[in-house]
Amino acid sequence: MKLELKNISKSYGKTMALKGFSKEFVPGIYALLGPNGSGKTTLMNIIATNLRPNNGEILFNGENVTKLGVNYREIIGYMPQSPGLYPYFTAMDFLLYISALKGLNGNYAKEKIIEMLGAVEMEDYADVKIKNMSGGMKQRVALASAVIGEPKILILDEPTAGLDPKQRIIVKNLVASFAVESIVIIATHVVPDVELIAKDVLMLKNGEIVLSGSPDSLIESMHGKVWSKAIEENELAKYKEKFSMTNISKHEDKLVVRIVADSIEEAQMVQPNLEDCYFNVFGVD
Ligand SMILES: Nc1ncnc2c1ncn2[C@@H]1O[C@H](COP(=O)(O)OP(=O)(O)OP(=O)(O)O)[C@@H](O)[C@H]1O
Ligand SMILES: [Mg+2]
Repeated sequence: MKLELKNISKSYGKTMALKGFSKEFVPGIYALLGPNGSGKTTLMNIIATNLRPNNGEILFNGENVTKLGVNYREIIGYMPQSPGLYPYFTAMDFLLYISALKGLNGNYAKEKIIEMLGAVEMEDYADVKIKNMSGGMKQRVALASAVIGEPKILILDEPTAGLDPKQRIIVKNLVASFAVESIVIIATHVVPDVELIAKDVLMLKNGEIVLSGSPDSLIESMHGKVWSKAIEENELAKYKEKFSMTNISKHEDKLVVRIVADSIEEAQMVQPNLEDCYFNVFGVD
């Protein structure tokens, strides 16, 4: 299975949201990282065919997706950044409705819905109206609706935003379980959420890929560039001016700062992580 994006561009008036984006996707998890406005949602909407690009084409197993039409849409599961769920529906009614759109009906649909609600720990809320749910609960109903029907291409736009730590882990595991057979594309600002599960990380800036690779290779490229240093509180401003500082913690009467730099005096070299790589690309300001 292969999804190819070839030279995709999209502008909204004068804003170029995507500039000649090309990438080949096979089963596995692809993480889209980038600051607000870098084009992640635009890209996802284009892959889901909710938006048409101005230029470029998308091929699924070699065939143009506009030609595949409904046959392509059927294999897509999409969780938007701000899911518009029907407030007066219960979770069950909403998911039955989504299932019907995906061609699942009757008892089979009901069984699948119960299974998916269980997977996101929402089985006790099947009969609760969406308007009476918390933000995190709505988020999980939206995720269940995206994964129902076992999509070959699963697109998740910030699926862990607003979830408590335990639910984040549940969602992470659910997403990882899908990646065995499906192409999973996930946009997130929570970098550690994708560090261990992504096969490929795409860093987007102003609608272009500025860096991509496996988490391991990106982390390896930061080796020798991440430092920990204990400083006095009154030195903080000076260090902030000079270096990219990714973390500040207090230790006894000193501050311990985490710094991304080629070299720095009297500091301890530490094991880099994906977030360091993100800050190295995008800066901390
Ligand atoms: N419907 C729209 N009309 C006009 N401009 C838009 C529209 N949607 C997005 N844009 C612009 O396109 C660019 C990319 O936006 P997009 O929503 O794809 O970014 P993003 O990476 O998803 O950001 P975020 O992290 O905030 O979700 C931004 O400059 C944004 O202002
Ligand atoms: Mg977005």
